[in-house]
Amino acid sequence: MDTTAAIQIQSHLTKTIGKVQHSTLMGQAPKCIWLTGLSGAGKSTLARAVEERLYRDGLCSYLLDGDDLRLGLNRDLGFDEAARTENIRRVAEVARLMLDAGLIVLVAAISPYRAGRRMARALFNPGEFIEVFVDTPIEVCERRDPKGMYAKARRGELARFTGIDSPYEIPREPELRLDTSLVSLEDCTEAIVEIVVRQI
Ligand code: ADX
Repeated sequence: MDTTAAIQIQSHLTKTIGKVQHSTLMGQAPKCIWLTGLSGAGKSTLARAVEERLYRDGLCSYLLDGDDLRLGLNRDLGFDEAARTENIRRVAEVARLMLDAGLIVLVAAISPYRAGRRMARALFNPGEFIEVFVDTPIEVCERRDPKGMYAKARRGELARFTGIDSPYEIPREPELRLDTSLVSLEDCTEAIVEIVVRQI
């Protein structure tokens, strides 16, 4: 390949419109708010409440929910450690693209392994990745059991269920820890929104 062609290809790949331009246009600081915790801990409920609140405040966000993504993008993945790691890798990569587009991204996924969450964090600039540990006790999650999955897992009809026969590794230094059995949905939402708007 001659030098001119190489330069042309390179300049074609260099983006002039990126995260800074998109986010400036939107008037917001893009972030990845990563909600991790057991099934039934309240991740999706909280993420939806934050999304509604941001929308009302004129901020552009998008929710990547583990349950939804497993119906499409990640429908080929199961629940062993390798599959969950791949699940988190894909979700984190999508979130990163969305940040480049200027968005505030909310992720709601069990993401039970520290290594997986560390891998996700590594894709973002310092301050962009906010790990929120939705730290609701398993007894409360099991009592809520919105999808009847704890009951199934206890009956032995569902293998590798997080918290029952599959591990959940507690975050050591999350930016935020919220117990939805002690703190109201409103206050949990407020705590997250406060972090999101801090840098705008
Ligand atoms: S993760 O562990 O890979 O991060 P993710 O958040 O995408 O999980 O999906 C979790 C959802 O999958 C749960 O809310 C539940 O509805 C469903 N699910 C099905 N089987 C399992 C299982 N063995 N463990 C946990 N969740 C499961």
